Formats: sequence, C-alpha cells, structure tokens
Amino acid sequence: MKKRFLFLLVSSMIAIFIGTGCQRQTEELLSKNEIQDFLKWKLLTPDGVDIEVPGHGKKIRYIYANQVSFQKTGGTKGDSYEAPQGAILVKAVYSDRNASGKEKPSLTIMKKNSNHVLSQKGWLYFTMMPGEKPLLVQGRKCIGCHEAANEKHPYFDRNVNDSFRDYLFVPMHQYVQR
Ligand code: HEC
Repeated sequence: MKKRFLFLLVSSMIAIFIGTGCQRQTEELLSKNEIQDFLKWKLLTPDGVDIEVPGHGKKIRYIYANQVSFQKTGGTKGDSYEAPQGAILVKAVYSDRNASGKEKPSLTIMKKNSNHVLSQKGWLYFTMMPGEKPLLVQGRKCIGCHEAANEKHPYFDRNVNDSFRDYLFVPMHQYVQR
C-alpha cells in the first residue's frame, strides 16, 4: 500500500503542474452562496491538521462539512461512507496556527454532484483563493491523490479496513446518524 500511496503522491504533484492549465471559472457549478457560511458548518478537525502532505507544505488545515454530508445513504455501512448528493466539504488552509482568524484562508472544496458531466467519480473539485471565485479543477490533480482515501493510507484513522470512503480522507462514517 505504502508504495502505491507514494506513487500517487508523486504523480499528483506532477499533475499539479500540468493540471493548473485546466482550471476554469465555474460560478454555475458552485456559487459563492453555497459556501459563504462554511465557518458555521461542523468542524471535523478542531485541532487543525498539520501532517505534512507533499505539495501542501507545512500549512494548517481545517475541514468543514455541510449538513447534507451527514445524511445516511445506502452505501454508508460500518466504516464505509457514501456521500449524499449535495454534500460539500471545505478545507480551509492557513499559513500557520496563529493565522486563523487574522488571515483569509485559501480553500479546497469537494462537492458531490454525480450527475454532472464534469464530475469525477461523483465529485467536483475546486480551489478558491481569498476574494476570488471557485475554480473547477479537472484532470488528475485532486482525484489522483484522493483515490487513496478508499484504501489504507497514513492519515486520520488510516482506513485500516480498506473501506470505501467516497474519496474523502476524513472518516465521515463516524459522524453519520445510525
Ligand atoms: C497529495 C495528495 C493530495 C492532493 C493532490 C489533494 N489532496 Fe485534498 N486532501 C489530502 C489529504 C491527505 C487530506 C486530509 C486532510 C489533510 O491532511 O490536509 C485532504 C483533504 C481534502 C478535503 C477535505 C475532505 C477530505 O477528503 O478529508 C478537501 C475538500 C480536499 N482535500 C480537496 C482537494 C482538492 C480540491 C484538491 C485539488 C486541488 C486536493 N484536495 C488535492 C490529500 C490530497
């Protein structure tokens, strides 16, 4: 598994350089309104995450999920999780621990919209720089690494049972009502 994960990390980093050209403006896919109050959503990483992820540097990350994300779907069983349509996860990235509150974070965003022609395995991936619009990310840049969340990996609870986690690293099944 470890080798495969490393391979994914390296190939994602290469894809980041190639992939930046594939971003496009996408107000209709994700409006600012849908995420404007994300700071009021459930915060899944209250202590912030600072485990180094290649390509992300030593930045501090906070992950928020909207209400829809916690609805149970047929695919959410045991420690498997399948996100409902309309689920949105926002990862807010700050330069360091002291910066949250003072600095506007840059965001990476995943929105579940399986029926959309541009979705990748059900998800639309976006980046959003402070004060700018969300940009859709196509190609392998994001999904190339997020595929690893569906198998054992070195983060959070490490997905020891190799369960399907719907491309999310945070163990969402822990928050879904049984
Ligand atoms: C090199 C691997 C890698 C790449 C590339 C990557 N991510 Fe992630 N992402 C992670 C990891 C690991 C986490 C778990 C939290 C953390 O460590 O920051 C995560 C967490 C997230 C989350 C919170 C939900 C979850 O899965 O836990 C979102 C949203 C997200 N990433 C979006 C993106 C977007 C959008 C892109 C592309 C611009 C991207 N990611 C590229 C590894 C990656």
